[in-house]
Amino acid sequence: MLKHHSPASYCLGIESTADDFSVGILSFNGKVLANVINAYIPEKGGIHPREAARHHAEVAGKVLEEAFQKAGVKPQDIHIVAFSQGPGLGPCLRTGATAARALASYLDVPLVGVNHCVAHIEIGKLIAKAVDPVTLYVSGGNTLVSAYEAERYRVFGETLDIAVGNCIDVFAREAGLHKREGTALGALVEQMASRGQTFIPLPYTVKGMDLSFSGFLTAAVQLLRKRKHSLEDICFSLQEVAFSMLTEVTERALAHTEKTEVLLTGGVAANKRLQSMLKSIAEEHNARFCMVPKQYALDNGAMIAWTGILAYQHRMTLPIEKSLVKLKWRLDEVPVPWVGG
Ligand code: ATP
Ligand code: FE2
Repeated sequence: MLKHHSPASYCLGIESTADDFSVGILSFNGKVLANVINAYIPEKGGIHPREAARHHAEVAGKVLEEAFQKAGVKPQDIHIVAFSQGPGLGPCLRTGATAARALASYLDVPLVGVNHCVAHIEIGKLIAKAVDPVTLYVSGGNTLVSAYEAERYRVFGETLDIAVGNCIDVFAREAGLHKREGTALGALVEQMASRGQTFIPLPYTVKGMDLSFSGFLTAAVQLLRKRKHSLEDICFSLQEVAFSMLTEVTERALAHTEKTEVLLTGGVAANKRLQSMLKSIAEEHNARFCMVPKQYALDNGAMIAWTGILAYQHRMTLPIEKSLVKLKWRLDEVPVPWVGG
């Protein structure tokens, strides 16, 4: 452990794996001073990596400035710069990495590369005061059930094809729903689902501990096209089936690991129905259900800054020439020496 930093040392974290560009500033004792998130909203359709990267480059200066202002610290007060090194979309990751390298070399401070999935877990633990949870991380690009075991965050279950958030978003666009500033497509589906009454069966695909959403998505889109059921009923059924699959795998990981906490994070964690399903399995296993508030559950710079601090304290800094981004960097490849010791 490096001990010479006081709580008044600060880390700046840059997140840019997909459609959000975000900057967080944290003190070494885990106080969040700023967490500014700027989302790229495509005019229509899904994210185009190069367009998103262009957005990140355009807003980077503004977001950094706002973060410094909110935090009330000057660039010279920053002791380390952390960035999301992967996994994610190449052009988006590279834009964030470029900004981080420039800032670290200008300020002459260490650079730390952070795994995005580890960061989701670490900020969740910090904010929801969890110690050793089974985590369900569900977003537009990821669907992971994980827990710490033998020096790593192990992956107990994951999607074999598309992520659950992506599945919901594609369905929502097919249904003619439009993302608005501040309202995710998943939230629009959730609103519709709350008015649904009739359950329509959809394919439930859990293979071992893994999940699959592509056949499920095709079937849901076919239901839309048949026009036999209301959109409310289809949204309701889609949520019931998809979230039951996620809950089943999380429950099995909980039973296997005998952990006493369940942490729900990622953009999809905002969903009330998913929260209630997970809460009930947690209660059945006498585990505490730990909720991560939205600004720390979706992609955010604070999680990168916090994980940067943890890694830095274990001397995991990166020379600039080794700071290439890792598009497919898996959660279970990352050493996390700050956990369990
Ligand atoms: P990652 O890079 O981690 O894969 P991401 O770019 O998808 O993340 P997030 O902000 O973590 O970003 O998650 C966005 C996803 O969360 C979208 O698929 C969105 O529809 C979904 N989402 C947001 N709110 C809700 C909700 N209330 N119910 C279901 N899904 C939701
Ligand atoms: Fe994420």
